[in-house]
Amino acid sequence: MTKAYHKDQSLPIGLFDSGIGGLSLLKALRLELPKENYIYLADTRHAPYGPQSEEFIAQRVLAMANFLVQKKVKAMLVACNTATAAAVKQLREIYPIPIIGLEPALKPAIEACKNKRLGVLATEATLQSEKYKNLKQKVAKDLYLVEKGSKELVELIETGDYQNEQARQLIESELALFKLEEIDTLVLGCSHFPFFYQKKSKKSSAIR
Ligand code: DGL
Repeated sequence: MTKAYHKDQSLPIGLFDSGIGGLSLLKALRLELPKENYIYLADTRHAPYGPQSEEFIAQRVLAMANFLVQKKVKAMLVACNTATAAAVKQLREIYPIPIIGLEPALKPAIEACKNKRLGVLATEATLQSEKYKNLKQKVAKDLYLVEKGSKELVELIETGDYQNEQARQLIESELALFKLEEIDTLVLGCSHFPFFYQKKSKKSSAIR
């Protein structure tokens, strides 16, 4: 494979996630760029990534990216906040193609937030990562952040069966902290979570 193979515009765009969460991004991409072709890869055998170590996640991210590069993608979207935090830097060092990552949408959420109390619902691994901590340091120093990692909600989405009473109760109990803390804006810092939130606009990461 030559170094400049990805300049061929007819090639597909590759994206991956630990599971089906990244499909929320694929949906948005298809609306924005309907003429492109896409390859979507889900690492369901190893999902959820959230409770795993950074080393393990980085190893899986490299394996997923390598698979996509072998399929000849012209660009790659790491459709997973957790994977981005663990290894997007390494990916950019290894592969010559454009690589786009995800991060919890603190910046637009801060603009939307009125009471300076912001909620962040993400995975444990994202919340513990250096990348996220640096982001907070950079943009959210003046806010009161209420953070929660939820592997339960990721697992619920992966079952595909989240529109029933039992699921509603789990969602409510996982979100109870945010209510208690009276946040006025919530960042969905995991690509699985927009599935819970049907919204008219295409921007899915930060909600009010
Ligand atoms: N969808 C992923 C994210 O955006 C992670 C879910 C998981 O595997 O824990 O962080």
